[in-house]
Amino acid sequence: MTIKAPYALQFDRASVRFPGTATYALENISLQVAPGELLTIVGASGSGKSTLLRCVNRLVELCDGRIEIDGVALESFAIDPLRRTIGYAIQGVGLFAHLTVAENLALVPESLGWPRARIDARIDEMLATVRLDPQIYRRRRPRALSGGQAQRVGIARALMAYPRLLLLDEPFGAVDPILRPQLQAELLGVLRAARTTTLFVTHDVDEALLLGDRIAVIDEGHLRAIGTPRALLDRPPDDFTAELLCGDALLHEYRRARLAVREQSR
Ligand SMILES: Nc1ncnc2c1ncn2[C@@H]1O[C@H](COP(=O)(O)OP(=O)(O)OP(=O)(O)O)[C@@H](O)[C@H]1O
Ligand SMILES: [Mg+2]
Repeated sequence: MTIKAPYALQFDRASVRFPGTATYALENISLQVAPGELLTIVGASGSGKSTLLRCVNRLVELCDGRIEIDGVALESFAIDPLRRTIGYAIQGVGLFAHLTVAENLALVPESLGWPRARIDARIDEMLATVRLDPQIYRRRRPRALSGGQAQRVGIARALMAYPRLLLLDEPFGAVDPILRPQLQAELLGVLRAARTTTLFVTHDVDEALLLGDRIAVIDEGHLRAIGTPRALLDRPPDDFTAELLCGDALLHEYRRARLAVREQSR
């Protein structure tokens, strides 16, 4: 089986305005994500982070500007085949309640025509990746999962079919602080191995600094800053970014020290 190359993604002055609203949910967003890059996205509630992800698989349409995948305008792709190449773990999970965990995970591979044995093996592999015992969880329905377990199934589902682009919307929001670092490390391993291009939304600044090759800061629909954790921590371009990413002097020192450790271990 050939795993297709990760997508390059480009936003060019992309804007979104929802019907009946006076302001833009996103305005003039320009950014590029390189193949295999992991971009974390931070910003206040309501700043437009989820909307940014939803534009990429066309759950939301732009009112202005454009988005390109591998240099091709998003509208040129047929929606369904495009979506099958994009893994999407939505905020609030979105598992199908009437399907078991295994059936949820099998949906995209089935639509791609994978043989049954391969689907089953991949289900076990992905459940193990998110630390859920396949023996126990394969046959569960979503209502019999905790919030954090359901989130992990959502991540497993997004990864199932070797996506060329991964959209993760606060994937660890409901996962406890003990398991969270393990899942972060596991996810980083999977993403490095697969070299999947990833947009990762999080409220957790430390998670954004730890996971991101670069970080994008969104504020009221605008891109305030984008850069490596090192660049943004050392030289935040504005007060908003400084306050959000650096915090007070002590926290700033801590975050820089932690980043230095991470840079050494790469
Ligand atoms: N379908 C819609 N119709 C009208 N307004 C919408 C719609 N979807 C989102 N919005 C508005 O767009 C803005 C951005 O929403 P979005 O969900 O992208 O925020 P967010 O940054 O993901 O927030 P959170 O951190 O709370 O998840 C909000 O003001 C929201 O109310
Ligand atoms: Mg959101």
